[in-house]
Amino acid sequence: MRSKVIVQLLNVQKTFHPSGVRALRGANLSLEVGSIHALLGANGAGKTTLVRILAGELQPDVGKIFVDGKVVDFRTPKDAMRHGIVLVHQNLSLVDELTVFENLFLGREPRRLFFLDKKKAEDEIGKLCEKLSLVALNKRVADLSMAEKQKVEIARALIFGARVLLLDEPTAYLGGSEEERLFELLVSLKRTGCAILFITHDVDQALKIADRVTVLREGETVLSEETSKLNVQRVIEAMGFRSSEPSSVCAQVGEELLRISDLTLKTGKRLVLDRVSLSVRQGETVGLFGLGNDGQFDLLEVLIGLRNPSSGRIFFQTCDITQLSIRERRRLGIAYVPKDRLKEALNLEGSILENAIVNVYREKPYAKFGLLNWDLLKRYTLDMLKDFEVKTVSVAQPVRTLSGGNLQRLILARELFQRPKLLLACRPTSGLDVRVQDYIAQRLQQLKSYGCALIATNDAEEAFGLCDRILIFSKGKLKRVLHTEGLAEPAVLFSSVGGEA
Ligand SMILES: Nc1ncnc2c1ncn2[C@@H]1O[C@H](COP(=O)(O)OP(=O)(O)OP(=O)(O)O)[C@@H](O)[C@H]1O
Ligand SMILES: [Mg+2]
Repeated sequence: MRSKVIVQLLNVQKTFHPSGVRALRGANLSLEVGSIHALLGANGAGKTTLVRILAGELQPDVGKIFVDGKVVDFRTPKDAMRHGIVLVHQNLSLVDELTVFENLFLGREPRRLFFLDKKKAEDEIGKLCEKLSLVALNKRVADLSMAEKQKVEIARALIFGARVLLLDEPTAYLGGSEEERLFELLVSLKRTGCAILFITHDVDQALKIADRVTVLREGETVLSEETSKLNVQRVIEAMGFRSSEPSSVCAQVGEELLRISDLTLKTGKRLVLDRVSLSVRQGETVGLFGLGNDGQFDLLEVLIGLRNPSSGRIFFQTCDITQLSIRERRRLGIAYVPKDRLKEALNLEGSILENAIVNVYREKPYAKFGLLNWDLLKRYTLDMLKDFEVKTVSVAQPVRTLSGGNLQRLILARELFQRPKLLLACRPTSGLDVRVQDYIAQRLQQLKSYGCALIATNDAEEAFGLCDRILIFSKGKLKRVLHTEGLAEPAVLFSSVGGEA
């Protein structure tokens, strides 16, 4: 059977002003009915810009978009939606304070939606929610997991009658089993005739799930091919990378830097952390792994001082820090990378400079007698950006104009640049292209010579790739410890979650 192209992008170009960044300089892409298409490329290659153009959020300077063979001119997302094209954002766009139900209809007039037959529409929404296992329609979005939020976004798109679904890094915050469920859902949508385009940095994942792969490099389509004709090597090379083995410098393990004893955290009646004890020594990178939100991320929030434990104590270099403020802990050399970076780690209205200096601007020598030394702060920022290869035009540029991966790099750079003794990081490599993932792994190796790291994750590959020792969490309890050396593959993490300590 001949495949049917539903959407086509031809020689699309886009430059952002006033910076003059050429995000797209010749992008081509065809999406077919009933198929899954993966879009890959290094951080800043133009992937998000491309899908935003397809979704009517941005207009191309040059080039054409065809839908069902006819040229279209999308001025707004509504124009794209009228053709059934909907974008699920890299940073989900739901309103936390509203319920799932309210979010499903946000910004849409129920009259339009129900104009045919209200009863029938309600039945269909019921069926859809069942299919997506969206049961808690009355729950506040703030109380949902990342995977659940994503489902709400997808449901929103489908309720509107999407036949082309664009997903910008849908797996960036998902754990292994959540990821699998998302892909099952995408495959079932494909069977109903949807065309699905998803952006990812994971080449294996793209080759496994997608029917076709397109690679963007510096704004140009350099590869577009059926997955059956591709292999990992070819895709990585098209992205402009050489595949490399991660370096394995053996660091000596030194004195104990962190000790936690009997830490318990309760929210309401729920036990988020249940008598967790552990110790980390200088030279170690320790993973905290759970399949979903099993307390591993909450533990890091407690360690940096964002939340108070219900009981238990935290010692850092023999000093009891349980009662210290975040600033006091940071001064001791503890750094933190939160899970939801855009909401918790950045001031999106601020410049790159303002975001880069948040941890230091109140400290000497950057502040003296209440005055800030802007020259020094600028120098500090430029050195940091250079060191971590954050691509920018100027430090005064608004931080929100950086690509998703460059934002991640900026946050990691800000934390690592200060040479912390203890790095607390949630999902540090998610959203980064493979080259930067390797680079972060190298930086963690360097950190070992003077400090240690705790990595909270629900991604088995990440835990395996970065950590020497992985502590398995399940429902707030520390279940067991795995030493990664000599273990064949990340899959053992899944099987070990169910076991007892
Ligand atoms: N609104 C904007 N204003 C100015 N520059 C922008 C804007 N959006 C993106 N850019 C720039 O365009 C280039 C491409 O960005 P884009 O977000 O499309 O990359 P990406 O491939 O999605 O990268 P990542 O993998 O890091 O998410 C980057 O250099 C980015 O800084
Ligand atoms: Mg992006």
